[in-house]
Amino acid sequence: MALILGIESSCDDMAAAVVRDGTQVLASVVHSQDAVHAPYGGVVPELASRDHVRNVHAVTARALAGADVAVEDVDAVAVTSGPGLIGSLLVGVSFGKALAYRIGRPLIGVHHIEGHLASARIGENPLELPYLGLVVSGGHTAAYHVEDLGRIELLGQTRDDAAGEAFDKVAKRMGLGYPGGREIDERARDGRRDAYAFPRPMLAEPGLEFSFSGLKTAVALEIARCEQRGGGRLSPADVADLAASFQEAVADVIVGKAHRALDRTGLRRLALVGGLAANSRLRERVAQLADELGLEVRLPPLRLCTDNAAMIAAVADGMLAAGRTADLELEAFSRVPVGARAGEGTAWSR
Ligand code: KG4
Ligand code: ZN
Repeated sequence: MALILGIESSCDDMAAAVVRDGTQVLASVVHSQDAVHAPYGGVVPELASRDHVRNVHAVTARALAGADVAVEDVDAVAVTSGPGLIGSLLVGVSFGKALAYRIGRPLIGVHHIEGHLASARIGENPLELPYLGLVVSGGHTAAYHVEDLGRIELLGQTRDDAAGEAFDKVAKRMGLGYPGGREIDERARDGRRDAYAFPRPMLAEPGLEFSFSGLKTAVALEIARCEQRGGGRLSPADVADLAASFQEAVADVIVGKAHRALDRTGLRRLALVGGLAANSRLRERVAQLADELGLEVRLPPLRLCTDNAAMIAAVADGMLAAGRTADLELEAFSRVPVGARAGEGTAWSR
């Protein structure tokens, strides 16, 4: 039970937060780089790292000021050490180290996905353990059995694209703004979910793995057909129908796999986390599933769904209590499995 400063810079958001006792968010600041990457229609890693270097201090200072906390008052500095874009991670890790060294407090390296999974336990009504955690974001799509924040088992993940990646690419192909997930969500409101019968990848297969690359291609082909019919252009109605039908296919797969994971594990609690947990239709469908099955469900508020540092500080609270602190040799890893401990190196990559 501690006061923790969290720093998150694994991709294109620079975030800092001050969290008390793992649940009470005193301040959470997120500096978005959407304007930096919008002209390219996707994250440009080098530009992301450079923007982090510019902003890491100001964002951290704003979080401390917002919490009305002096940096010397925090019990530990927590920083995302992986997975993510290596250049982006290194900025937060280096800054976090320097800060921990300067105030003489422990440094804690936090796994980004453990952070997303913890977002269901932040606030006044934390989801009790154990639960099924569905992480659906721009970089990840996976189901986890969360026994405890320090004991998490991967049940299945995507074999290719993450669901958010498919949203962003479909949006880009339709000429919508960046990042595309939110745009698809908006356009889909006026569309027909059954306008196109897109595939539901791997839904019929017995496992808990996902795949979204084939769906993305199927949607791209349909977009091309629509464009051809429209003399090279998509009408707003086409965009709405394509968005709604695509979104429904993704929701069907995620809800179907969640159902299967619940059956298989016997879990009675469910958390939908990660950037796509901000999707209005997916939230609706997951809430429906929970209703049907009588489950307890958490759909964290939108600010906790997309990347943020409160979730990183929340995980670090338990790690600090368990003595799982890092030293100043902490490294950043672009790929590292959930639950991995230093020294277990095989599946790690720098
Ligand atoms: O968790 P996140 O902020 O970053 C990763 O760790 O990946 O997730 C970002 C992803 C992006 O793909 C973005 O397009 C998507 O979340 N996203 C949405 C919505 N809001 C954000 N996708 C669908 N509907 C939304 N409302
Ligand atoms: Zn994330």
